[in-house]
Order: sequence, then C-alpha cells, then structure tokens
Amino acid sequence: MNDKFKLLDQKKAEALLGGGQKRIDAQHKKGKLTARERLHFLLDEGSFEEIGMMVQHRSNDFGLENEKYLGDGVVTGYGTIGGRMVYVFSQDFTVFGGSLSETHAEKICKIMDLAMQNGAPVIGLNDSGGARIQEGVVSLGGYADIFYRNVRSSGVIPQLSAIMGPCAGGAVYSPAMTDFILMVENTSYMFVTGPNVVKTVTHEEVTSEELGGAITHATKSGVTHFACANEVEAINYLKQLLSYVPQNCEEEAPALPYTAGNESRPELNSIIPENANQPYDIREVIEKVIDVDTFFEVHKLFAENIVVGFARLAGRSIGIVANQPAVLAGVLDIHSSTKAARFVRFCDSFNIPLLVFEDVPGFLPGTDQEWNAIITNGAKLLYAFSEATVPRITVITRKAYGGAYDVMNSKHIGADMNYAWPTAEIAVMGAKGAAEIIFKGEISEAKDKNAKWKEKETEYQTMFANPYRAAERGFIDEIIKPEETRIKLIKAFKMLENKVDKLPKKKHGNIPL
Ligand code: HXC
Repeated sequence: MNDKFKLLDQKKAEALLGGGQKRIDAQHKKGKLTARERLHFLLDEGSFEEIGMMVQHRSNDFGLENEKYLGDGVVTGYGTIGGRMVYVFSQDFTVFGGSLSETHAEKICKIMDLAMQNGAPVIGLNDSGGARIQEGVVSLGGYADIFYRNVRSSGVIPQLSAIMGPCAGGAVYSPAMTDFILMVENTSYMFVTGPNVVKTVTHEEVTSEELGGAITHATKSGVTHFACANEVEAINYLKQLLSYVPQNCEEEAPALPYTAGNESRPELNSIIPENANQPYDIREVIEKVIDVDTFFEVHKLFAENIVVGFARLAGRSIGIVANQPAVLAGVLDIHSSTKAARFVRFCDSFNIPLLVFEDVPGFLPGTDQEWNAIITNGAKLLYAFSEATVPRITVITRKAYGGAYDVMNSKHIGADMNYAWPTAEIAVMGAKGAAEIIFKGEISEAKDKNAKWKEKETEYQTMFANPYRAAERGFIDEIIKPEETRIKLIKAFKMLENKVDKLPKKKHGNIPL
C-alpha cells in the first residue's frame, strides 16, 4: 500500500514542477510568476482544490508521444476569494509554452461548465503561445469549445481574464468575450497577428509591446480594462473587482455594513466653476459623494472624456458613469459611448444599480466621428441605458445639451430618479449657437451685430440654461444643492431597492453593433 501512496506523492510532486525547474527559472527570469504561484496569490490560503492534475495530452505526432507533462500546461480548479467561490484556470507557460491542446481545452471547459452549473465567477490567468502547433485542428476545436462557453456564460456568471504573458492569434477571442481584461505592463501582449506578419503584410515595423502591450490596449484600443504595473497588482485588481460583483445574475453584489452619519457634503457646493466653460474633474464629485475610498475605476486610460467604475454608496455596490468635463469638455464620442455602453450592460447583467453624473456639451462633431459611425456607436449607449432594468439615477451637475441629454440616462429612457444641481443647463444647444440660428434675421439687420448677438445669447441663456424648465415638465424630479447629493442618493437607492422592471418577452434585442 505504501508504494501506491508513494507513487501518488511522486506524481503530484512531478505535476507541481510543470515543465521542470529550468523552465520555471526561465519564467522567473522574465519577471513572471508561474501558473501555481499566481493561484497562490489569488486565492484564499489553503482554499485551492485542483481538478485534472494528472491529465496528459493524447497527441502522437511530431514525437509528442515522448514528451508529456502532468496537467498538460494548465492548472484548473476552484477555490475562494474573500470566502466566495470562484473557478480558475491558470496556463502554465513552462509546458509547451502554455499552448492549448485538446486536453488543455477540455480541462478549461470542465471548470467553465462547473462554474455555470454552480453559479460562480470564472477567472482565467492567460499565459500561452496559442494553439498547440503539433496538434493542428484539434487545438482549434478546443479554442472554439471555450469560445462557445464564453458566450453561453456571458451575463450569467462574471468572467474575468488576466493576461500574464502572450495571448495571440485567435486565442485573443476568449478573453475578448469575457467581462473584464487585465494586462500586465511589459510582460503581456495581445494581438491577432504579431509583428512579423504585420511587417510582411503592411511593411510596418512595430514591437510586440507597441502593437499589443498593456498600455497600447489600455489607451488606444480599449481592449484591456486595466494596465497593471506587475502581476501582483493585476491579482489584487482581480480581487477588488470581484468584491463589487455578485456571484451570478440571480444574486446581488455583497454589501458592506454601513452606519448612517452626517451625509452632508458642503465641499461639493464649490466644485462647479463660475464660468460654465471652465473644466473641473468629475472624479472629485464622485469621490465626495460615495463612501470614502471606494471608487474602483474601470478603463481609466481609455476614452477619458467619460469616467466609469464601481463604488459603494452606504455600503452597497453601484456602477458609476460620469461625463468628464476635464477631458474634451466631457463630449460624447465613439470611444466614450462604447466604453460606457459596455459598462452599463455589465452592471445591468449583474444587478448593480447605476448612478450617472452628467455634464455633457453634446456629441463630438467632425468627419472622423461621422465616418467612423458615431451614429451607430452613440446609439449603443442610448440602447444600453434604455434596456437596463436596474435602479438608475442621474445627477445633472452642469451641461445637458442636445441628444446627449436624452442619452445620458434621462427620465425619458427609463431613469428612475433625475436630480439637477442649480448650476444645470438643460437645453437643445448652447446659447451662442442657438442665438445665431433662431435670431439670424434680427442679428443681421441690427446695426451692431455683435451686440445684438450677445443680447440674444443672454436671452436664450436666461431662458434655458437652467434646470427649471426641465423640472417644470417633471423631467427632473428635484433640484438639489450639491451638498445634499449624497443623502438624496442614499435615500433614493434605498427607495429603489426592490425595483422590478422586466423587458418585453423577446429572444434578444438587436443592439446596433
Ligand atoms: C507548441 C509551443 C508553442 C505552441 C511555444 N511553444 N509556443 N509549443 N505550440 N504554440 C513552446 C516552444 O517550443 C518552447 O518549448 C516553449 O514553448 C517556450 O517557447 P519559446 O519560444 O522558447 O519562448 P519565448 O521566447 O518566450 O517565446 C514565446 C512565444 C513563441 C512568442 C509565444 O514561443 C511563439 O511565437 N510561439 C508560437 C506562437 C504561435 O504562432 N502560436 C500559434 C498561433 S495560431 P521548449 O521545449 O523549448 O521549452 C493560434 C490559433 C488559435 O494560436 C486560433 C484559435 C481560433
């Protein structure tokens, strides 16, 4: 019997070494952790239970029958984070460069199926050279099996992807279909075709980092939601992110205990500059309204003219979408619309109430925007808000102009409570442009055209650049002083706690893609 136990111990020890000490050392030399070290940092101590440690590939081509590693390049299983169940897979670059074989894919699919059946998040730690080249189409099939599950799981359980090394070719599409991507600066990259192919086809010379590194995808493409300085930071972000989301679409996100105190925030009264064209940082407003130090910003470096992220209000998890007047005057454009739309849809999928801060001068004009379909892309945000059934509240801090007023969670598209500060300007367009159009004749006939224009601008400004017209109609539920914002929101979200709103019966909507 002892021999049998010894054999088990031996095999386990062998599996723990993955592709062997030499390759582990090489991994460390690149500044990367191993697949198991990552899980060690990610999961509660002692909580990890491995599934499929003895799995080996079945390939007999190119001499692979003589090269087998227990686990076949991916560590899979379950464990807890802060006491909550998660399912995990962590690709082991020391085994065939973490490449995906038939059995490697089967292991990932097994835990994805378990996660769906048991209603808990899946976290993938990706570090892979892509399809196991020696296996050919079998490996491609394995990828497709994963993609299919990604889609079936979407909106049912949260799916998070951390990219800790290479992620190239079709392999990128699994993370792309998960809810959030995190990348590590300098050691991870994602691209459909690498620098060599790019050079051959387009003659561009570009490094892996420039083409598909963390900063590139965090700033230019928006593919990644987070660019992390190192792997430990990425793992901490994963944990933080999970703390704001529920286990599945039928649950609520966990709330923290909250004791009511003095909720007045007089500092908010002086945030809006006297001059309506002066910028201010909407993050200051967010920080002062929410529970202290709870803002967890998503997509921080991408489309900075809109700010999105999770926060807590009276202990409850909420999603925040806020125009950022400090960048491009907070205008809505293609990237900010799609960034916000995706975030709104995530929150709505997982029962996270939405809070919107609005200060938007309109949509960005120009050929670049029009030719790249601001119409279709702006519609995504309109669609996302309109279909969201979670509690939704808007606070208009300053400008709410034109179509952007409608889009930014207006009453008309289903927001539950709409507040405005006395500094709000809710109108079809800015006073200057409006005066030029509607008083064109009067202005052109005037002796002093500029003076006339100014006079008409002021007239329009006085009449419309305020929240009272909208409040008269009930489009604004209450005009509040900035200092009251926090308490009003706490009470309103409490009032909306049991909101039930259902979409009409349908197969699924047809969001303008
Ligand atoms: C099998 C692979 C592999 C792969 C790497 N290895 N990629 N084995 N299939 N795809 C093995 C190497 O042979 C090597 O084995 C070990 O992993 C480490 O690789 P190195 O090249 O030494 O590491 P490094 O210099 O860090 O380079 C990493 C790399 C490079 C950039 C990922 O290995 C690479 O370019 N690999 C090929 C990438 C690729 O073309 N994949 C297929 C893409 S097509 P030893 O024994 O020396 O340790 C694809 C389609 C998916 O993925 C479609 C889904 C729909």
